[in-house]
Amino acid sequence: MITRRLAPADLALAARLLRDGEAVAFPTETVYGLGADATSDRAVAAIFAAKGRPRFNPLIIHVAGAMEAERLARFDERARLVAARFWPGPLSLVLDRRADCPVSLLASAGLATVALRVPAHGLAAGLIQAVGKPIAAPSANRSGRISPTSADHVAAELDGAIAAILDGGPCRVGVESTVLDLTGERARLLRPGGTPVEDLEAVLGAIERVSDAGATPASPGMLASHYAPERPLRLDAASAAPDEALIAFGPDAPAGAARVMSLSRSGDLVEAAANLFATLRALDRPEYAAIAVMPIPEEGLGRAINDRLRRAAAAGLQPERPGP
Ligand code: TXA
Ligand code: MG
Repeated sequence: MITRRLAPADLALAARLLRDGEAVAFPTETVYGLGADATSDRAVAAIFAAKGRPRFNPLIIHVAGAMEAERLARFDERARLVAARFWPGPLSLVLDRRADCPVSLLASAGLATVALRVPAHGLAAGLIQAVGKPIAAPSANRSGRISPTSADHVAAELDGAIAAILDGGPCRVGVESTVLDLTGERARLLRPGGTPVEDLEAVLGAIERVSDAGATPASPGMLASHYAPERPLRLDAASAAPDEALIAFGPDAPAGAARVMSLSRSGDLVEAAANLFATLRALDRPEYAAIAVMPIPEEGLGRAINDRLRRAAAAGLQPERPGP
């Protein structure tokens, strides 16, 4: 298959491909998604095939707005509150499917729940509107790899495997959406992400943190090895060896590394999140024995950054095995 590279002006063509059941990568404010018609089993299966996902992980369903979302899932007062406050934006809500929810069961891996999100990106919103259907979209990387934050990242892994890539430039947020489970009495954080949990707690009160240490993670895509560069990662580094690449944060970085890239010289976590995946990709090169990473504060977007870094570090410690 020849993968077409589409410009924002080709949005109508991208929408037509999606309506025809093809898989199309498109930009969102978090990372690039690999989209397909969420109501079609065949189209959704094409996503799993292109990503090389060995198991059927539930996908996030992207919709145009809260009204469209309410047709797919049951909203309680809490869900309405956070939807009104944080959509469009980097927040996915796990809710109970409505009985007449048209989303393919393959997209939600046979679960009685569905993860919904309204992206805050002009092209994503325009595309969903033009298709007129919910769009299932995991991050547009090969299974087990780092999420793409540019069209080039997508092409590097999925060229030839998908119909098209809609190029909207780099992603503003840079880490995936926060996944919040509202199906139970207590709100549960399944994945820290682009919406700081502190902001959610200001609206909902205390949110339970779900540990994914168990064998069956609450959010199936959250297995420890999910975000993996090939080089081993060394976290909380206070120094760097001459054969290491260093990811710095803040104004001061230890000397001695083969190469240094900074997530944010001013120590800004929002800027750091936006730079995270592109930096990991840039430094994941055979000339470095490892990638050392300076400590990142565990607050705001720092929680999502540290979560992804810990997963990447854990992946390096494990023998090669099929990822989620
Ligand atoms: O920012 C994002 O969320 C990006 C962009 C493209 O929107 N998408 C994304 O999708 O990161 P993906 O498939 O890479 O991650 C989806 C996460 C996984 O951890 C998955 O297990 C979880 O959401 N998830 C999806 N549906 C779920 C459900 N019904 N219950 C629990 N977790 C669910
Ligand atoms: Mg992903």
